[in-house]
Amino acid sequence: MHTVFQPGTADHGTTREGAATTRVAVAGATGYTGQELLRLLSRHPAVTLTAAMSSGTTASARRLPALARVWNGAITPLSAETLEREADVVFLALPDSAAAELAPKLVAAGVRVVDLSGAFRLRDGAERGRWYPETHDVPASLAYGLTERERDAVRGAALVANPGCYPTAAILALWPLAPHLADVVIDAKSGVSGAGKTPSERTHFSECHGSLSAYGVFSHRHAVEIEQELGVEVTFVPHLLPIDRGILETIYATVRAGVTEADVTAAYHGAYASSRFVRLTGRDLPEIKHVAHTNFCDIGWRLQDRRRQLVIVACIDNLVKGAAGQAVQNFNVAFGLDEDAGLN
Ligand SMILES: NC(=O)c1ccc[n+]([C@@H]2O[C@H](COP(=O)([O-])OP(=O)(O)OC[C@H]3O[C@@H](n4cnc5c(N)ncnc54)[C@H](OP(=O)(O)O)[C@@H]3O)[C@@H](O)[C@H]2O)c1
Repeated sequence: MHTVFQPGTADHGTTREGAATTRVAVAGATGYTGQELLRLLSRHPAVTLTAAMSSGTTASARRLPALARVWNGAITPLSAETLEREADVVFLALPDSAAAELAPKLVAAGVRVVDLSGAFRLRDGAERGRWYPETHDVPASLAYGLTERERDAVRGAALVANPGCYPTAAILALWPLAPHLADVVIDAKSGVSGAGKTPSERTHFSECHGSLSAYGVFSHRHAVEIEQELGVEVTFVPHLLPIDRGILETIYATVRAGVTEADVTAAYHGAYASSRFVRLTGRDLPEIKHVAHTNFCDIGWRLQDRRRQLVIVACIDNLVKGAAGQAVQNFNVAFGLDEDAGLN
């Protein structure tokens, strides 16, 4: 089933089979996560893509060669008015500051928003002010969109704050076990696309190729997001891995006395029995290669009873489950569609 691209229409679209679709737009469509969104949404059976926007500071005729014959629409400069007029749902794949400004306007105009930035993820006002100082206006109807945990909240929210990439893997790996753990250490590694399309001195090819470096120790905003969702303190150390995409987190924790590997296994299976996109690999530890270009989060674990030492390994594709894929999953939940629509 293919969607029909209808640029500039204010009407709901239809699929070639005649079923109704939702009008969807992407702001930040020329970025890494925005292009993933275009790839997924252009083939989504219940979506008509009505607009795809760049910052407007570059040529509006910008080419996206990877999407040739996948999506043939036009990239236009960012326009809040056009988004309000032509979309029922807008995905924001923008820097935090741009999302902080645009999302409240869209929500006020009755448009539902899935925001991939960090602008609305933190609930505590002081923490939000510290890490996202450009967020001033927070819509009341807001959900933190870790889909597997928040389906009910996502269903009714005007604004879904899609989780960060590192937090997605960490929270999925830890929340079923959190009450039974102490001394949690998250050793996280991400491919370079996690930093977006604009190279910096740290992410320049000749700097990161052939190297591995830790950064943001005790100063990364994703630690605050992880602690918010788990309700426990964690030590979080991200690393820049010289691959293009993918996150692997090796998580170390001490389990409470009496907790066995069978208990850990039961907790995971209980938590994710109906979760299509969480694959539990047990003692076979997952790898980035197995989740790249997919919306899966793979989780494996081993427990050493004698020392009560638990090691968990969780992997995602930062651009898919860590961003665009989870955003589409949230859209599916919000609109009562199959959770895996457009994500198979
Ligand atoms: N990369 C990841 O793995 C990842 C994962 C989870 C969440 N996120 C979050 O998702 C958001 C997008 O990330 P990304 O990696 O896709 O970024 P990116 O590759 O840097 O792309 C940014 C996009 O936003 C547009 N843009 C930049 N400044 C703008 C402005 N002032 N007004 C309007 N549009 C503007 C850019 O347009 P031009 O092409 O015209 O510059 C581009 O389309 C960020 O908030 C990021 O933190 C990223």
